[in-house]
Amino acid sequence: MSELLRLTGVSRRFSGLQALRDVNLSVARGEVLGLIGPNGAGKTTLVNTICGVTPANSGTILFDGSDITRTKPYQAARRGLSRTFQIVQPFAEFSALDNVAAAALFSQPGTSLKTAREAAREHLAFVGLEPQADQPAATLTLAMRKRLELAKALAMRPKLLFLDEVNAGLNSAEVERATALIHQLAKDGITIVMIEHLMKVVLNVCTRIVVLHNGHPIADGPPREVISNPAVVEAYLGQQYAKRSAGHG
Ligand SMILES: Nc1ncnc2c1ncn2[C@@H]1O[C@H](COP(=O)(O)OP(=O)(O)OP(=O)(O)O)[C@@H](O)[C@H]1O
Ligand SMILES: [Mg+2]
Repeated sequence: MSELLRLTGVSRRFSGLQALRDVNLSVARGEVLGLIGPNGAGKTTLVNTICGVTPANSGTILFDGSDITRTKPYQAARRGLSRTFQIVQPFAEFSALDNVAAAALFSQPGTSLKTAREAAREHLAFVGLEPQADQPAATLTLAMRKRLELAKALAMRPKLLFLDEVNAGLNSAEVERATALIHQLAKDGITIVMIEHLMKVVLNVCTRIVVLHNGHPIADGPPREVISNPAVVEAYLGQQYAKRSAGHG
């Protein structure tokens, strides 16, 4: 498999807080990489840093053979980096269709509105939202807004797709449905990096796992190997099991 993304020594600070510390990470084409770790570990920051939202203070990021370390978010999007947001924020008054069409127009300037809407309809059909195409985004349920978020990301024709907790807040039937979509995208050859707290989903979908702890990767490898790594159990999985047995998540 050839390499699509490489981070070398990437760090990011927020005033006093070291959110990412010397991150080295490589993602190969066709992989479905699970990015896991405790709350505040820096997972979302890592995606924001790669996408140019919160640029790295040091280190380099190579994507598809180009240095994108200082790339602005819209440039990153046009190069084929696309992501869903942990907190979904559609244009509330726009229809579901136009939210997706807007993403297509944004990432592919010069596209006509008609073409963008046609593409948007296909992406909505893929995520099962065609019946809601003309509804204002504000009227959709959380599960539907999460799928809308996925359709928007796909409309940007990603080479690399980041999924930030697409299953958070969903019930088990909704999680299963979203998982099936992710499987399909992986089969279609889209490289995926998914941030996910549900270990069942991670183990079901991911070909590899990276664990982030205090802004630094502490494990990287095949899923079964990583989840039995004592350092990972100590830093993250122990808490997950404790939370679950206490009835949360
Ligand atoms: N824009 C920002 N300004 C200041 N601090 C930030 C900013 N973004 C993130 N942080 C801080 O950086 C740390 C890492 O946050 P991040 O959101 O990346 O964690 P996470 O691993 O995604 O956590 P969660 O699982 O809760 O989503 C946290 O302490 C957070 O408060
Ligand atoms: Mg996060």
